[in-house]
Amino acid sequence: MTFCEYRPGLEGIPATQSSISFVDGQNGILEYRGINVEELAQQSTFLETSYLLIWGGLPTQEELDEFEHEIRFHRRLKYRIRDMMKCFPESGHPMDALQACAAALGLFYSRRALDNPVYIRDAVVRLLAKIPTMVAAFQLMRKGNDPIQPRDDLDYAGNFLYMLTEREPDPLAARIFDICLLLHAEHTINASTFSAMVTASTLTDPYGVIASAVGTLAGPLHGGANEEVIFMLEEIGSADNVEAYLDNCLRQKTKIMGFGHRVYKVKDPRAIILQQLAEQLFEKFGRDEYYDIALAMEQAVSERLGHKGIYPNVDFYSGLVYRKLGIPTDLFTPVFAIARTAGWLAHWKEQLGENRIFRPTQIYTGPRNAPYVPVEKRQ
Ligand code: CMC
Repeated sequence: MTFCEYRPGLEGIPATQSSISFVDGQNGILEYRGINVEELAQQSTFLETSYLLIWGGLPTQEELDEFEHEIRFHRRLKYRIRDMMKCFPESGHPMDALQACAAALGLFYSRRALDNPVYIRDAVVRLLAKIPTMVAAFQLMRKGNDPIQPRDDLDYAGNFLYMLTEREPDPLAARIFDICLLLHAEHTINASTFSAMVTASTLTDPYGVIASAVGTLAGPLHGGANEEVIFMLEEIGSADNVEAYLDNCLRQKTKIMGFGHRVYKVKDPRAIILQQLAEQLFEKFGRDEYYDIALAMEQAVSERLGHKGIYPNVDFYSGLVYRKLGIPTDLFTPVFAIARTAGWLAHWKEQLGENRIFRPTQIYTGPRNAPYVPVEKRQ
């Protein structure tokens, strides 16, 4: 066996072979199963794209209809899950609530029949169907309201916005939200996907796999960056303050949220599309006051940090879109999780195909043969 040098964060080290998605970070290209994400954003839907990611090819009309029908049928939550959620503190972060709920699904549905295609299909359908309902239910419950039932006449994105806001969404808003989900559905071996794969490799149940990925997505260096971007724009307050804010960040060596990426060294292709979606929303529903700050920020960061390949990532403009759609800031990361469930499930399924448990090695840097010092002699 050959050993390669230690690379913090496993940068550049292949952890698997995968045919799910492809990123060219120098040229800003993202493809799902070989299809450019821009083309999918124009022509596909989140559920069709989820099918593509998970089952490996675009569905026929009949296959798509069946998949969508199954997902509609499984959107409701068991009353015991809703009762469990009622015990969550209102001040708790919705990502923590989602992680607990995803894991709890395993109590009801886990049989760990991983060699049974019906079990795999059921798990895919249940997770894609129920995660949005859980996110919306927690939002209503923490406001003191009963969660509302999903509506079978609304599509995936429209139904989520309806369950969240208790109002039937504008069709443009629903379509734009669906594209946002599609854009966040998959992104090679990022931290949460890697987490899902490691968990999957132990052959545990898929609900545990998704719960572990949700926990990983929650951090501010990963999915949590989208809400941090809004806090940052709030703190900056006006486009005139951007330069001073940036000076301060650079002086203190703090990361600017929504910028930089391990793989992309140009503007993230998803950020380009999300910015266009934000503009479409502003045109129809009015401009967001933070957009001018965001534009000034993008320009200033590109001028000052562009030489290091630091440009807006997916999280920079997604928050502005979600804000305009009326989604509360601390639900931005759960919304990311709704979308990324498709990618996590695709990797779970791929991992099961040729599984070997993840068991990397380490470079030990501690002492050896150290004596045990009795407590009374310790200083
Ligand atoms: N602001 C300022 N400087 C940055 C930033 C940033 N956002 N990102 C990277 N750098 C600098 C960093 O200081 C370092 O400079 P130097 O070489 O002079 O020390 C260089 O760029 C390389 O940075 P790194 O931290 O080694 O890069 P990484 O590949 O480990 O980190 C990252 C990637 C996404 C964690 C990082 O860019 C970051 O923390 N960004 C802010 C948080 C964020 O927006 N996260 C969302 C990521 S995209 C979606 C997702 O994965 O969920």
